[in-house]
Amino acid sequence: MTAPGDYRGSVIPPGIHDIAFDWDPQPEVQRLLHFAREAGADVRSVLELGCGTGRLLAALGAHLSDRWGIELSREMAEAARARSGARIVAGDMCDFALERTFDLIFASANTVRHAATAAQIAGLWRCVAEHLVSGGVFIADLELGFEAEAAKLHRPAFWTLSRGPLQVRASWCVVRPPAPDTRCCTVEWEFEARSDRPLGRWSESFELRTYDADEFVRLATAAGGLEPRGIYEVRDPYLLPRTPENAVGRMLVVLQSPRRDAQPPVVPTMPHGSELPEPTRWTSAPARR
Ligand SMILES: C[S@@+](CC[C@H](N)C(=O)[O-])C[C@H]1O[C@@H](n2cnc3c(N)ncnc32)[C@H](O)[C@@H]1O
Repeated sequence: MTAPGDYRGSVIPPGIHDIAFDWDPQPEVQRLLHFAREAGADVRSVLELGCGTGRLLAALGAHLSDRWGIELSREMAEAARARSGARIVAGDMCDFALERTFDLIFASANTVRHAATAAQIAGLWRCVAEHLVSGGVFIADLELGFEAEAAKLHRPAFWTLSRGPLQVRASWCVVRPPAPDTRCCTVEWEFEARSDRPLGRWSESFELRTYDADEFVRLATAAGGLEPRGIYEVRDPYLLPRTPENAVGRMLVVLQSPRRDAQPPVVPTMPHGSELPEPTRWTSAPARR
């Protein structure tokens, strides 16, 4: 098990990870592009945080050529480079400087929850803000809800996917509930590969930060200066708009870098300097994809 902040990237062999997550990436890609465009972004460049083996960057290749990814594991980064044709940087999403900006930055599948310590969370939002163009969009796909995460304790989720004769069973389980002080829970992943006989078994365990929706948005707003554009429950084929109070489970959180040419918003005076206004602008999602 790794302590919060000590994770060094996935140790699962990229070839096994690639098969385990090899479902159709197009719905995810379409959602990313839809929400970025709905916010008014002209998406000609993207950066993925924690791109793994590059499955989403590869699928984005059908839509645009300027694609970058950051990945902590060197092995995963190499696999993503080979698979996606995107520019892949082996590095930390909480501390990077690419000397350019992007129209869209995104993180799929709970990846932002790997930023577990206060320093990592501050670094993540600072880097995101620094790498977005004016009016650029950030989208995170993550499971929200402190209580919801605690309720998953010792209740594994699993699935099996195949590529040719190779079959990979993936399972994950919350093995320690979120701690009230760190808000991190411990998650264990297991992967088993077989063809006509067992081929191997790999596991890893790490800490994931748990968020309630309003806290997630508040941190992004405070540390990154981003503005909330919406929270959507992902329940295929629907995207259901949610307010922070009822956003629990798998969600897409859409945030936007303020437009530098826009009129400054009227911010109400708060009683305490450290308090931030609650996000107020929640847009409606398309009823149906
Ligand atoms: C759940 S996987 C998602 C992979 C990919 N985005 C996908 O959807 O297939 C999370 C990935 O984030 C990477 N990761 C975790 N912490 C990271 C960090 N601080 N910086 C960059 N990558 C990180 C892991 O190594 C892993 O490959």
